[in-house]
Amino acid sequence: MGATNPGIVMPSLQAPKGVPDYYPPRSAAFHAVREGLSAPAVRAGYGYVELPVFEDTALFIRGVGESTDVVSKEMYTFEDRGGRMLSLRPEGTAGVMRLVVEHGLERGPLPVKLWYAGPFFRAERPQLGRYRQLQQVGIEAIGGEDPAIDAEVIALADEAFRSLGLQQFRLLLTSLGCAQCRPAYREHLLTFLDACELDDATRERARLNPLRVLDDKREIVQSQIVNAPVMVDHLCGECQAHYDAVRGYLRAAGVTWHEAPRLVRGLDYYTRTTFEFQHDLLGAQSGIGGGGRYDGLMSALGGPDMSGIGFGIGTDRTLLACEAEGFAPGATSLIDVYVVPLGDSAKPAVVGLCARLRRAGVRTDMAFGDRGLKGALKAADRSGAPWVVIVGEDEVASDTAVVKNMASGEQVTLPWEGVVAHLAEAMDVASRGDDQ
Ligand code: HAM
Repeated sequence: MGATNPGIVMPSLQAPKGVPDYYPPRSAAFHAVREGLSAPAVRAGYGYVELPVFEDTALFIRGVGESTDVVSKEMYTFEDRGGRMLSLRPEGTAGVMRLVVEHGLERGPLPVKLWYAGPFFRAERPQLGRYRQLQQVGIEAIGGEDPAIDAEVIALADEAFRSLGLQQFRLLLTSLGCAQCRPAYREHLLTFLDACELDDATRERARLNPLRVLDDKREIVQSQIVNAPVMVDHLCGECQAHYDAVRGYLRAAGVTWHEAPRLVRGLDYYTRTTFEFQHDLLGAQSGIGGGGRYDGLMSALGGPDMSGIGFGIGTDRTLLACEAEGFAPGATSLIDVYVVPLGDSAKPAVVGLCARLRRAGVRTDMAFGDRGLKGALKAADRSGAPWVVIVGEDEVASDTAVVKNMASGEQVTLPWEGVVAHLAEAMDVASRGDDQ
């Protein structure tokens, strides 16, 4: 160790703290969750963007806000070889704004509708459901004032959770007002907070963003702010009309929600419609997704003055929510067919059969090495494949294969040329949910 190169120590072979690994079989459910979360947005015309994992630090400071924990305490920031300050992305919205402006997408048809997925990085105190490398699926709709877009974004998140099979979650909804009405409300709230007995750190938070104090979970703070003024009682006429329209469209889309006038999000850019999805079985990390409007964000970043709205859904937490409700989305086995060669003479035929099955879209694995019939059948069983194909010397000689249905135990000998078609058809029938 270290003796040859004192600068390098042996790695501990453990992932860094707070970084979850996903591996089979659970990774299949993780993958299915990610696919399921993005599918409704894809069906609504959102185009995929692949965002860089790191950006200029200034983008997040200006975009997400200095008063947020996400930027002030949790960013992974480093200087590159050219002396530039870069940060691992703590969230996706600021990066999407940068991408849209840099490539002039906002000069095309509006709204620009985009989705993304992948890892984000926040140096939080890790626990179950709170990670330092967290995964999100997000969408952003940029350049549309129409409250129907707000309803679309919220309904797509709602549909994403529902289509996965989740039931025990709720949508919290509020309006945070705009640049016209928020400053007056802010003063109101500050005056109220001035009269409370708060420690210095909390006063400082109040000065940076008094709304954040409403989110303080400590009893000593909560007991004093029961009667604090809330934004929804101070909306200007336009914000009130916008919020009313959003709720009307949500009703039309069949989405139900809870009014949450004290909802405070962890990021500073929100205006008007703001929402969060919470799951009932996840304890302290109940936020499975959230988002809202950010009408001043693009101009604050130096781009044109364009509105936007989007959401970020936590992929890790959504998977935990599914598991808490007692199911894992996606395929239960990695493969459909497990092929067993008995003896070396059967191997070329089996290798060829695997290739043909895979080409036909049938997920196929085979027994490698020489395990004998018993060992190979045990491996077949463990693979979870609903079908097993056995090819021995007799089958090679007679151009046949034995096909076994693992659920029923039924076994048939088929002519070699018919095996692929038979199994592809069986898979197709299964995927249609047709048990004929
Ligand atoms: P966010 O609320 O900070 O919003 O994160 C979105 C979701 O990511 C959360 O609801 C949660 O499910 C998940 N998440 C956040 N932090 C962690 C963590 N440490 N471990 C596990 N999961 C986590 C945003 O990031 C905004 N960019 C969303 C948005 C898009 N707003 C408008 N457009």
